Amino acid sequence: MNDGGQRRYGPLGRALVIIPTYDEAENIEPIVSRVRAAVPEADILVADDNSPDGTGKIADGLSAGDGQVHVLHRKGKEGLGAAYLAGFRWGIDHGYGVLVEMDADGSHQPEELPRLLTALKGADLVLGSRWVPGGRVVNWPKSREFLSRGGSTYSRLLLGVPIRDVTGGFRAFRKETLEGLGLDGVASQGYCFQVDLARRAVEAGFHVVEVPITFVERELGDSKMSRDIVVEALWRVTAWGVGARAGKVIGRRPPDAGRP
Ligand code: GDD
Ligand code: MN
Repeated sequence: MNDGGQRRYGPLGRALVIIPTYDEAENIEPIVSRVRAAVPEADILVADDNSPDGTGKIADGLSAGDGQVHVLHRKGKEGLGAAYLAGFRWGIDHGYGVLVEMDADGSHQPEELPRLLTALKGADLVLGSRWVPGGRVVNWPKSREFLSRGGSTYSRLLLGVPIRDVTGGFRAFRKETLEGLGLDGVASQGYCFQVDLARRAVEAGFHVVEVPITFVERELGDSKMSRDIVVEALWRVTAWGVGARAGKVIGRRPPDAGRP
């Protein structure tokens, strides 16, 4: 991470809040209206993976009544990572300067968004964080908290990224940051997409700031967390960690290497 205090940051452009959805019919209307109320200047993009419960149709209805709400219909369930990549591309193509990631289920509170956006004025990437002082979780089963804290700690130690909440999904990126992450090379599909982007940002030398948030477990609908998502995260994070270490060992040259 470079020293954000020494850098000058350009003004923030227009913000797009990207909300990936899969079967969030009960949640989509409330979350869209909360975002519109909390940050009226921001636009919304719902990235729906052809939800069987009709979330995409409901989103279309919201979009018809509000020019600041857009919908990206995708052909089927391809994971959170693919939905965000498509959303980022759409947003950059449409001239937004700030791209926000946010869950549809109310776990990420739109009312906290202004704090994230304020922090982004002096950063390349802002992470809403449950595991920094002031951050917390409400109504999360102990098993999920254990998994999340464990996943963050494992990733932090193995990858050497100095971030407390590396799997979180409430984030604000400057467009330039996303453009510097090599998104074409991102293959992560599930929640390890978040770890992937965080480690890329740190490796690229971006100034990453964690802002405490209160994560509220959903009341309606179901989490899409699955065994496959955990397994993908475990193997990818381990492979990145081992790859980085091997690279360092192989790449280290003796002090006089290259001299004739
Ligand atoms: N388009 C699309 N496609 N959206 C999806 C998919 C998918 O395949 N899978 C999940 N989503 C959407 C959900 O509809 C929701 O809006 C958001 O992604 C998060 O999914 P949840 O299922 O609610 O996640 P969670 O509460 O279990 O997990 C939370 O914690 C993870 C670990 O910290 C989220 O904050 C994740 O972002 C985070 O990585
Ligand atoms: Mn959730």
